[in-house]
Amino acid sequence: MIARHLLSLILVVALMPAFAADEKKEYKAVGAKKCKICHSTDKKAGTHFKVWEESAHAKAFQSLLTDKAKEAAKKHGIEDPSKDERCLSCHVMKGSPTPEEGVTCESCHGAAEGYLKPHEKEGLEVAVTLGMKPLKKMSPEDQAKACMECHKADPLNEFHKEFKWEEYFPKIDHSKATSPAVLEKRKAEGK
Ligand code: HEC
Ligand code: HEC
Ligand code: HEC
Ligand code: HEC
Repeated sequence: MIARHLLSLILVVALMPAFAADEKKEYKAVGAKKCKICHSTDKKAGTHFKVWEESAHAKAFQSLLTDKAKEAAKKHGIEDPSKDERCLSCHVMKGSPTPEEGVTCESCHGAAEGYLKPHEKEGLEVAVTLGMKPLKKMSPEDQAKACMECHKADPLNEFHKEFKWEEYFPKIDHSKATSPAVLEKRKAEGK
């Protein structure tokens, strides 16, 4: 009897780490204005915000307010696309306190509640344990996979065009917008 209890206890303990690793913490979105504070000037992290602000992604919510959007939505029995989860799912950062910002930094880099404060000082490796996606460390193939969450063909997306990485990525590329000061610091740290 005792031996059997012991056995099940050992089994439970042995399985625990596997469960813990599977459990992903859900972080909340904070909105792009929080990133703007540091990512819109070379005096701080760089000018990534400015590149994003001029991209189609920053207007993705506004697109749902147009007649074009309403026409398309009608075909699916959707009255107001700007209020319907079936359209919002690709046009807005999920759970954002500021949905009007559309597809934001967090749509690609991950909801930032966890990494917002620590990532500046502690860098990418620590940030990744707090919900940031390690995009920069990923191959272009894997980066493109992240885009395909929304750029895949979908019956609800009447405006779908074939996603070509070589054509689409340059239009949103902000990897050269990092400030000289940050680049200097990384060089000094041998990163
Ligand atoms: C208080 C200032 C500050 C805020 C706010 C801030 N960042 Fe940063 N961020 C930085 C600095 C500084 C770096 C450069 C860190 C380094 O490499 O030393 C950085 C680096 C990054 C990187 C690159 C990580 C790497 O090492 O490749 C990403 C991605 C990023 N931030 C995303 C965001 C997002 C998304 C937000 C908003 C949700 C945000 N940041 C808000 C200061 C900030
Ligand atoms: C959360 C969903 C989502 C993700 C992830 C996403 N996109 Fe988009 N993207 C959109 C939406 C929605 C639009 C349409 C915006 C509009 O005009 O209303 C768009 C538009 C674009 C456009 C403009 C297309 C045109 O016809 O001018 C480019 C370029 C683009 N995305 C590149 C990318 C790349 C590269 C990635 C990955 C690194 C990516 N997107 C990831 C949702 C997303
Ligand atoms: C699976 C993700 C996804 C869903 C769901 C989705 N869209 Fe889109 N939508 C996109 C992407 C990505 C683009 C950019 C087109 C491209 O380059 O492929 C886009 C483009 C658009 C555009 C064109 C913007 C422009 O003027 O260039 C409108 C309007 C639009 N979508 C409305 C809607 C409506 C209305 C719905 C709901 C019925 C919807 N979308 C559902 C991903 C999606
Ligand atoms: C459509 C997806 C997408 C959006 C939206 C987006 N990023 Fe990125 N970001 C990427 C990808 C992909 C990379 C990696 C590029 C590379 O290979 O260097 C990247 C790289 C970065 C880097 C690293 C630059 C470096 O020093 O190498 C920073 C910082 C950053 N993004 C900040 C932001 C901020 C801030 C926003 C919003 C204002 C934002 N990103 C919006 C996809 C996105």
